[in-house]
Amino acid sequence: MRHPVTKSLRVLVTGGAGFIGTNVVSELVARGHTTTVLDSLRPDVHTDGGEAARARLHEIAARSPAPDRAVNLAVGDARDLGVVTRLCGDVDVVVHLAAKVGLGLDIDDIDDYVSSNDLGTATVLRAAARAGITRFVQASSMVVYGEGHYTCDDHGVVPPAPRTRDWLEQGRFDPPCPVCAEPLTAGLVSEHALLDPRNTYAVTKVAQEQLASVWSRETGASAVSLRLHNVYGPNMPKNTPYAGVAAIFASALDRGEAPRVFEDGGQRRDFVHVTDIGAAFAVATEADTSGHRAFNVGSGVVHTVGDLAQALSGARGGPEPVVTGQFRLGDVRHVTASSERIADELGWRATVSLEDGVRALTFD
Ligand code: UD1
Repeated sequence: MRHPVTKSLRVLVTGGAGFIGTNVVSELVARGHTTTVLDSLRPDVHTDGGEAARARLHEIAARSPAPDRAVNLAVGDARDLGVVTRLCGDVDVVVHLAAKVGLGLDIDDIDDYVSSNDLGTATVLRAAARAGITRFVQASSMVVYGEGHYTCDDHGVVPPAPRTRDWLEQGRFDPPCPVCAEPLTAGLVSEHALLDPRNTYAVTKVAQEQLASVWSRETGASAVSLRLHNVYGPNMPKNTPYAGVAAIFASALDRGEAPRVFEDGGQRRDFVHVTDIGAAFAVATEADTSGHRAFNVGSGVVHTVGDLAQALSGARGGPEPVVTGQFRLGDVRHVTASSERIADELGWRATVSLEDGVRALTFD
């Protein structure tokens, strides 16, 4: 059920200068809300010092009926209790996106992930409670489910055994049944599935959700965690270690090189367009759920990484993708979930198809 809003909300968007954040701000502003963006413009993400992000926020404000009030940018860190408390004092809802994303480079990143994501969330929640905020919406991720939902022909639904280096080197990419070692079939994960984080980033996302849940119980306010599938779209991070596969393939094509598809290209993902993600956050901001509620957010259509490479190569006029058989030991084979709960409860559905989305995949 959808809950239409009747008034304009004042929304604090942490991480609002980022790839997803600017799209959330844009959608909120288009719906008549005003935003305060808190962003640290971290140099490993904003390699130009934040110039492009500032320009984007400026454009969003200029398009709104109240350009001087639509977007206010505060440069600062979500872990700074004083700053966040001050900003929370002037808003109705907090949308928390400020986080270190990606799957992590190596174990040297572990403390920065925990600090950025979990200390950041705890600080924002404390400030929001102090300010009497009654609604908190945050970005979580499909990685909270780990390997996801798998079925064996003989043994039914089973937790997949880890993909060993030996198996992968033999080109056996689908995770095996823990009982008979036969390949498993991937299914759609629902929000009822157990959380099973398998890397540092995933652990911090689970902790973020649990912190929001505790906050909601203790304050009586409502919290929403949106578990995002693979987000892509214009201006997605490109030349950083945290770039997603769509940006990696598009950059290769723009250099005249073939996209290099790992494994056999059969890895299943749900690629969801960033403008749809902006709308999902806006809908969650306006909704009136209670307690802590988590929602999977995807396009609802499963594609393989090979499909994505083909679609991008077609849209950019080649070259054809190359399937390399290479693998990354930390990669999950398939990540596919059902996004029906958010459709049923908040009335949100994705609208951009992969074909249309890749056609318009541009970078600054
Ligand atoms: C992505 C996000 C993660 C998010 C998750 C949600 C990034 C970097 N990671 O993880 O933050 O929480 O979705 O579902 O955005 N691949 C190739 N060729 C390449 C690079 C990658 O074939 O050059 C393959 C990988 O082996 C993998 C797939 O593409 O199977 C996706 O990789 P990636 O874009 O890094 O994302 P996820 O691991 O799905």
